[in-house]
Amino acid sequence: MNNVKLAIVFYSTYGTNHEVAETAAEAARATGADVRLVRVAETAPEEVVKGQEAWAKQLEKMQDIPVAKPDDLDWANAYLFIAPTRFGCVPSQMRAFIDTLGGLWSQGKLANKAVSAMTSAQNTNGGQEATILGLYTTLMHWGTVIVAPGYTDAAVSEAGGNPYGFSTNAGAFDDKGRAAVVHQTERLIDVAAKLAGGQFEAQTAAA
Ligand SMILES: Cc1cc2nc3c(=O)[nH]c(=O)nc-3n(C[C@H](O)[C@H](O)[C@H](O)COP(=O)(O)O)c2cc1C
Repeated sequence: MNNVKLAIVFYSTYGTNHEVAETAAEAARATGADVRLVRVAETAPEEVVKGQEAWAKQLEKMQDIPVAKPDDLDWANAYLFIAPTRFGCVPSQMRAFIDTLGGLWSQGKLANKAVSAMTSAQNTNGGQEATILGLYTTLMHWGTVIVAPGYTDAAVSEAGGNPYGFSTNAGAFDDKGRAAVVHQTERLIDVAAKLAGGQFEAQTAAA
């Protein structure tokens, strides 16, 4: 046990980000963290999903994974968001979930949590960095503590070198990628554990 309750919140249409999320969950559980692996709800119309065999199959494959609820973020003291790029932003499915969190945010319940993010895109320069940075903008609004991987381990550079968060090309998640995901997840848990264990009495109400 390390006092870390990690919510891994992901979206995946075709499977890459699902694989990344499962890898992160396994790495997190191995540290002793309490982990909730949850997927955001699919919001695309059923006929659209059914119109693409690969999309329908992936959604079927994830049926046993619970759908993310605001309570998962209330419960956790660390968040890992994982989602593909859509024109340089996270998919609307992820934004739809984020847009249900106003109540928790207004009570300050999203603040001070350690967070990190990962993504994928079809192309190497297809928007990975922009997607993660855009998501971090929202996470700053919440007052979270962003835990980027930086270049804190050789695994980051060996997997493409994105210092903002792990990213991969769609369908190309390999062992180098796995090592980078494990490193970023462990680093997030390390910082979350330190935040959970620290003692500090603010001298002013505003601190
Ligand atoms: C509507 C839409 C927009 C996309 N925009 C981009 C893009 O701007 N750049 C890019 O490289 N890939 C883009 N992609 C490809 C996705 O990022 C890719 O399918 C995804 O990373 C695969 O992840 P998944 O297997 O978890 O769904 C787009 C895909 C869709 C469906």
